[in-house]
Amino acid sequence: MILVTGGAGFIGSNFVLQWLAARDEPVVNLDNLTYAGNLRNLDSVRGDARHIFVRGDIDDPELVAQLLRAHRPRAVLNFAAETHVDRSILGPAEFVRTNIHGTFNLLEAARAYWGGLAGEEQRRFRFLQVSTDEVYGSLSAEEAAFRETTAYAPNSPYAASKAAADHMVRAYHHTYGLPTLTTNCSNNYGPFQFPEKLIPLVIINALAGKPIPVYGDGQNVRDWLYVDDHCSGIRRVLEAAQPGEVYNIGGNSEKNNLEVVRTLCAVLDELRPAPRPYASLIAYVKDRPGHDRRYAIDAGKIRRELGWQPAQNFAGGMRRTVSWYLANTEWSSSVTSGEYQKWMNANYQERGAA
Ligand code: NAD
Ligand code: DAU
Repeated sequence: MILVTGGAGFIGSNFVLQWLAARDEPVVNLDNLTYAGNLRNLDSVRGDARHIFVRGDIDDPELVAQLLRAHRPRAVLNFAAETHVDRSILGPAEFVRTNIHGTFNLLEAARAYWGGLAGEEQRRFRFLQVSTDEVYGSLSAEEAAFRETTAYAPNSPYAASKAAADHMVRAYHHTYGLPTLTTNCSNNYGPFQFPEKLIPLVIINALAGKPIPVYGDGQNVRDWLYVDDHCSGIRRVLEAAQPGEVYNIGGNSEKNNLEVVRTLCAVLDELRPAPRPYASLIAYVKDRPGHDRRYAIDAGKIRRELGWQPAQNFAGGMRRTVSWYLANTEWSSSVTSGEYQKWMNANYQERGAA
């Protein structure tokens, strides 16, 4: 079996669902259910004996050691993290605790567990760190896309905390020989994404007739990848990569934010027509402090060495995503009450769009 952390979040839950659809190998899913974790994402595997959910913290040494002893996983995949850049700007402490210290704690537990394995079990074990392209910093319009050899230059507290974790993973391989793998992926979108991130926020605000907040001039560029493709990339790395390796995962889909927002509005106009075009809701608001201008991934290494490439293009992925949110309004309502409203006020009121 494998141990997945953060498997009730956006990418983690998509990963667990994809994994269980593809194979019989069980998953232990460790997640402490922060505001971003949601067991409803896993409704379709409720009662499935191959999915063992444990509510707990990756930063709890006894719990992690006990789970490793009890379940003897062949791999640990660390998805658990604080992940929203804007939250890291308003309150970085939790990012340091979970992303840095939590990863350190998992590494320590994995090192002890792996050290106690023998033979084939020890040889097969992997620790896979799910990381981000934000560790590489920001590109100008002319610069080449991020490669695995690009120097780290994180700019937000979130990116810095992920970079620190990646460095610890690297050090555990280099120093102790722990068989680690690291993936650095671009912006994901798709089902079950918490609506603090751009794409679900646009869909949900548009459907509610609320302003669609675009930071700054809307020209910041991201490289968008449908979440299923990220999950298949991680599975490929887990199965085929050599210990110590790093792979960038991306969608070859660079778009500026305004293009993304306009695409979503056009799909909504078609699938759920309203009296006025949804794009009329676009509202330019105060920029994110230190807002990275451009991210772009060179995914050549994973394509050449492991034969992975995305199955979904941007237009298809956007359509699927909008359709999913239209078909799952109950899910959206369940995550946009209470605490969510407090966040919307904290992040947008001062920007003039709450
Ligand atoms: P998310 O915020 O949707 O989910 C994070 C999950 O981790 C939640 O279920 C939360 O409850 C859990 N968690 C948080 N702190 C925890 C702790 N201390 N102990 C146990 N569980 C904890 O995040 P996501 O977008 O699914 O991202 C998953 C991973 O992928 C992260 O490591 C992120 O850095 C990375 N990543 C995300 C993107 C993206 O575009 N979303 C892109 C590249 C990499
Ligand atoms: O690049 C990978 C990263 O992508 C992940 O590591 C992060 O976990 C994930 O959150 C994401 O980070 P971004 O900051 O790029 O994602 P976000 O959806 O917050 O913003 C995408 C772009 O849209 C960014 O340029 C900021 C802009 N934006 C965002 C929000 C929430 C707006 O213009 N308006 C908004 O209201």
